[in-house]
This record gives sequence, structure tokens and C-alpha cells, in this order.
Amino acid sequence: MIFNVHTHINDDQEILEAKELIQECYDNNVNKLVVIGYDIKSSKRAIELANNYEGVYATIGIHPSEVNKEENTIEELEKLVKNKKVIAIGEIGLDYHWDNNPSKEEQQEWFIKQLIFANKYKLPIIIHSRDAMGDTVEILTKYKNMYQKGIMHCYAGSIETSKELAKLGFYFSFAGPLTYKNANQLRSVAASIPLDRLLIETDDPYLTPSPYRGKRNHPSYVIYVAKEMANLKNMTYEKLCETTYNNALKVFDL
Ligand code: NI
Repeated sequence: MIFNVHTHINDDQEILEAKELIQECYDNNVNKLVVIGYDIKSSKRAIELANNYEGVYATIGIHPSEVNKEENTIEELEKLVKNKKVIAIGEIGLDYHWDNNPSKEEQQEWFIKQLIFANKYKLPIIIHSRDAMGDTVEILTKYKNMYQKGIMHCYAGSIETSKELAKLGFYFSFAGPLTYKNANQLRSVAASIPLDRLLIETDDPYLTPSPYRGKRNHPSYVIYVAKEMANLKNMTYEKLCETTYNNALKVFDL
């Protein structure tokens, strides 16, 4: 049993093949998937997929790159949050990588707004943080009463920062980059994460793991992330899958 905690089969391309992509997951023993919303449209699609397929769950939230769009409002999130298959708020956070992203101030304001929203419904949070770890940790520390636990998705921070975040209740998920040749630093960070805080994901259609790097990612490719992680942790593949599966059940209260 394998639990992929971060997929975007709700994306414009993947949604067309969602049925096949989910079947491919089942065929590879990937029997739980969390479809992550990044704006209102994708959050609605995540819920629709979750309602239609066994073992599929949804999150709703506005990604930092999307916070300045008119249609993305807290009022719309309010309409979606009560659905039984919504198990977390995300992905939310900060992304300072792209020059044309909303301003830092606007991203931070929305990050905090959504932490407050998550707190209102007592849901865990999924954090996206790119080139913004300092401000991310600062906000998460300042607003630590707004959540109990969450996931640092595609964790790309240091070992030291992971210890701080673990104290705040965070789990750490890793995706395809773990399998890349030049990712020794990332592998040593992943290896240092305590076993009871470790998760695996794909973030498809992005970040395709080896041996498919360069092609579009599939949610079933989480098995390559699991294999790499099992090596790093000196565990059998089966044990690694079981451990991360149980961690996912715990963070999402399933
Ligand atoms: Ni994502």
C-alpha cells in the first residue's frame, strides 16, 4: 500500500486522463492519493475526483502564484470546505522564485488569511515554499496557534530548519528530485528526517523522477520516489511504503 500525498491530476492536461492515471496508480499498489488544489477551479476539480474515485482525497487552497486573481476568494473556499473528502488546506505558502508572481506582501497576506481559514475548520495545512524559506518559517512560527500539523511539500530546506518545523508539527514530503543525479544535498536532508515525519509524493505533472525525467510526471511514479527513499533510509521498499502510508493517515486524520 502506497500513499501519494501530493498530485495534480486536477491540472488541465492530466484531468483528461484522470481515469487512466488513477487506474495506473491502483495497478502499482498506490491506493491512496491526495489531489491538491491551487486555485478555486482546481480545488473544485480535486473534490470532484475525490468524490468519484476510491482512495482519492482533496485539498483546497490558493497557491501563492494565484492569490491576485479575482476569482480566488476565501468566500469560494468557504463553499467547498465542508465536503467530506476535503482533508487539508493547501497548497498555500510563499513563492519568490518567479519575477511576475504577486508581490511578497500580497503573498504573505494570503498565506496568513489561509492559515486563519484552516484554523477555523481545524484542518492540516500543505505548505508550498520556494526561495522563501526564511519568511515561511517566520510566518509559521508567528501563527503557530492557527494549526496543529501540516506538510512541507517538496521540502527543500536545510536539516536545521526541518528540526524547527518538526517542532511546529510538520511532516516532510519528497518528490522526484530525490532521484536526480545531482541531488546529494537533498538526499542527505531526506535521510535526516525522522521516520515518523516522512512522506512521499509526485507533484505531477512536474518534477518527474528518474528514469522518466524529461517526460510528464504521473502520480504512479511515486514508486520511484519510494525506492530511492528506501535506499536512503536503509529499509526495504515494503517497509518504507508502509511507514509513509501510516504517517499520511496520521497527518490527515484518516
Ligand atoms: Ni503542487
